[in-house]
Amino acid sequence: TLIKPTSIVVFGGTGDLAKRKLFPAFFNLYIDGRMPQQFQIIALGRQKYELEAFRDYVHDNIMAFSRNTNFLPEQWNDFKEHITFFNANINDDQSYQELRGLVEQNDASWGVRGNRLFYLSIAPNFIDKVSTGLKNFGLADNTTGDRIIFEKPFGYDKSSAIELNKLLARTFHEEQIYRIDHYLGKETVQNILAFRFGNSIFEPLWNNRHIDSVQITVAEQVGVENRGEYYDHSGALRDMIQNHLLQILCMVAMDAPNEFESEQIRDKKAELLKSVRRIKREDINHYTVRAQYAAGTINGQAKKGYKEEPGVNPNSTTETFVAMKFYIDNARWQGVPFYMRTGKSLRQKHSAVVINFKDITKTKFPANRGDIENNQLTINIQPEMDIRLSFMTKQPGLDMEMKPAEMVFDYFQCAPNSPEAYETLLLDVLDGDSTLFMRSDQVEEAWDIIETIQDEWEHGDLSPIYTYPAGSWGPEEADELLKRQGHRWLSSVPQTTKLET
Ligand code: BG6
Repeated sequence: TLIKPTSIVVFGGTGDLAKRKLFPAFFNLYIDGRMPQQFQIIALGRQKYELEAFRDYVHDNIMAFSRNTNFLPEQWNDFKEHITFFNANINDDQSYQELRGLVEQNDASWGVRGNRLFYLSIAPNFIDKVSTGLKNFGLADNTTGDRIIFEKPFGYDKSSAIELNKLLARTFHEEQIYRIDHYLGKETVQNILAFRFGNSIFEPLWNNRHIDSVQITVAEQVGVENRGEYYDHSGALRDMIQNHLLQILCMVAMDAPNEFESEQIRDKKAELLKSVRRIKREDINHYTVRAQYAAGTINGQAKKGYKEEPGVNPNSTTETFVAMKFYIDNARWQGVPFYMRTGKSLRQKHSAVVINFKDITKTKFPANRGDIENNQLTINIQPEMDIRLSFMTKQPGLDMEMKPAEMVFDYFQCAPNSPEAYETLLLDVLDGDSTLFMRSDQVEEAWDIIETIQDEWEHGDLSPIYTYPAGSWGPEEADELLKRQGHRWLSSVPQTTKLET
């Protein structure tokens, strides 16, 4: 479909996200012929840049951060004409007036009023200011072609999320608001729905009659780096579980929509989040483990403990690791534990979903029972990108001996250079497809799920905070959480909790 001419306004145009992700994504879409025929990107920043100097800066960042640096000089020369820099102060009315002038110039050159996308890559406390500015100065109106895009944090807890949603609703219709969770743009995460609902062999098994338990891991090797100050007020529960992990959970566990259509898909996700059983305060220790990294070794390099990181309070009790168990109270999932864990400064970057199928209980098979392993379906999200199905097979030979084998679908073999999350997401915003974006009710439900835990961890005294050495797979208590039900963390990468030597 042909996309209308579009003005793309990036607030925070000189910031980190624009530099590493947004500009490389726009450029790759451009090279792929996916940008609108007519478009102009207006980058707003407080720093002063001459236009050509800003374009050079964008070029340098593309060379440093894009998945694709192998393009023709004319491709860049054409693209750069679509970039405008505007030195603005978002607290100053005059900036909005001038911005309006720039956007109207675009419209005049196209001969139509174009769509207007406003990417708010700015601190959350400016969102109010900017969204009302856009309205008051006639930059955005209520047509669905005018859209605002922003990223988490969507509030700090449930009540602030509700406030933020109300505030945005004063200015924009829900269909105009694109809340990004960049995990939903990842190829391997999107494929979960295609895999589940585009095949007839998995969906019939996708329930508590056949599935024993599910695990979702998002392990990071990076620590908090230069984000100590932000992170210390957030912690892993807010930073990762509330959004990325619960969104992956939705993809894995939601029911099928009648039609593969944005609102229906989002309805099913919201429904799923509603049926996640809320953990009661007195049960928090039974269902959750929180921990913080201490000094350790990663890839042979000494790594500081969390409390020594710049910007972090030396007495901080902020968690950098969370492991927890959820139940989903609906017919499909009654009784199936969903384990989740995420953490920083872990041994290795590794994100995956593991579907652990039930034991074959009444086997008449003559083989040594002890050797038969459950079937597992592993969806490796990153950095490995593959789907693996493990099954038992006969060991070739004269005896009836069993051994585990695997069927593997590897993304890199079929698409070695697949688009980055932001390319997918920005293309969807340009197209007006909100399937992969968070609707206000989903955000509020997700906060509701973690609210009691958050409150207890911050204000209560029931929950100990454990430590784990940087470079490990987290605290032993996270293993205990599973052992109680006869489970262990499953993974296609070795999970030994021993430290590197
Ligand atoms: C962000 C979190 O949302 O996701 C970061 O704020 C985290 O703390 C990042 O590092 C992880 O994203 P990715 O794509 O590198 O897995």
